Amino acid sequence: MRQLSPHRHARRGPGASVVAAAFAAIVALGGCTEPGDDGSPGEPDVEVDLPWPAVAFPDLPGEAASPEVIELGLTLFYDPVLSVDGQTACGTCHSEFWGMSDALERSVGQGGGLIAGPSRTGPHVVRRNSQGLWNLAFRETLFWDGRTETLEEQAIEPILAVDELGQDPALVLELLQANDDYVALFAAAFPDDPEPSIPHVLTALAEFQRTLVSNRSLYDGYVAGDEAAMSDDQIEGMFRFAAFGCDGCHAPPLFEREGFENRNVPNVDAIVDDGRYEATGIVDDIGRFRIPTLRNASFTEPYFHNGSVAKLEEAVRHELAQSGLAFDDEDVRLVTAFVDGALRDESREPQRPDTVPSGLVVPIDGTTIIR
Ligand code: HEC
Ligand code: HEC
Repeated sequence: MRQLSPHRHARRGPGASVVAAAFAAIVALGGCTEPGDDGSPGEPDVEVDLPWPAVAFPDLPGEAASPEVIELGLTLFYDPVLSVDGQTACGTCHSEFWGMSDALERSVGQGGGLIAGPSRTGPHVVRRNSQGLWNLAFRETLFWDGRTETLEEQAIEPILAVDELGQDPALVLELLQANDDYVALFAAAFPDDPEPSIPHVLTALAEFQRTLVSNRSLYDGYVAGDEAAMSDDQIEGMFRFAAFGCDGCHAPPLFEREGFENRNVPNVDAIVDDGRYEATGIVDDIGRFRIPTLRNASFTEPYFHNGSVAKLEEAVRHELAQSGLAFDDEDVRLVTAFVDGALRDESREPQRPDTVPSGLVVPIDGTTIIR
């Protein structure tokens, strides 16, 4: 654990803390004034106070997929054709209404009807909280236990899982091959190998998800040199976030890290979940879970791998307590102000289609049913 005492950061003018001064970063993220001769961003001359060295947001690895592949992936993502009940889609549990998650403690899969969101109920409940799907393109491991490594490899799991879509891929393939619209969409997406196939389904879903990049938050604007982008509370919260060592795991610029830790999250009765151990078989990994991104965490309540904590402020309080350092309500308020307010960006959220080629009804979300 870091032996840092949370400093009270005075941001500007004389009296700025030594820590802040030591880390004050020259920012190189295009917050420039003079473009270079070749039209590229010129030398940045903007300096903003950061509690850590400025690290540029990563470029997308690999080549971008064609718009046709991405379109097919989006269509499949929202089409219940992948589910055994013809009513459930990826978008049921990863919805743009809830930060690409589902607002449930634990996700409810097939058999739960067309209504998605916080009022969804049903017979098939996953034992874990749905993950928001932001910035997956940069990931090396997926799921709370890191059991898969690529999005292509990941995408078959929810199709097969009885608590999720529960469908036989052979049946999916039959339905796609018999559907003229899908035949045309696959041919446009994969002209060299135009037949609908399960590998193409998985590729299209993966490539669509790689478009869910979130890097236009107020924090990004601030890092690029716009000092006014973040409020004073958010800036102060960012410095306290660093002082409590949060950035050691939720590391900028993605505010996550390829790692698994035990944060002593409250248990939920009757749920057995050994976390990372289930993927590695290493005893020390029992109870360790993926370090999630905090980008767009604002929208994905409830929190933690089992959804046991309802509100972001409570999750921040839990995490502050884990630091082992003394903290007060003002620390909770300010760190929450930063995580909640400065790390939001859903500007690339997908557009849910009104209709899908299968002719099935697209899952309904954004409507709360009072029972
Ligand atoms: C019943 C709800 C449900 C459905 C349907 C569902 N998911 Fe998920 N998804 C989850 C849950 C819960 C997790 C976390 C599971 C775990 O860690 O074991 C998850 C995890 C993921 C992850 C890993 C994200 C990360 O941050 O590591 C990806 C990617 C994903 N889902 C994509 C999909 C795709 C693509 C589909 C459709 C083919 C889909 N999901 C269908 C609930 C669902
Ligand atoms: C040692 C690594 C580590 C440190 C340090 C750390 N976290 Fe976490 N954080 C995690 C892990 C791992 C999880 C998921 C735990 C789980 O679900 O079991 C998590 C989850 C969270 C969540 C819930 C996110 C979600 O989508 O469910 C929030 C919010 C959070 N941390 C904030 C913070 C704050 C604020 C700090 C600093 C006080 C902090 N964390 C320090 C590893 C860390």
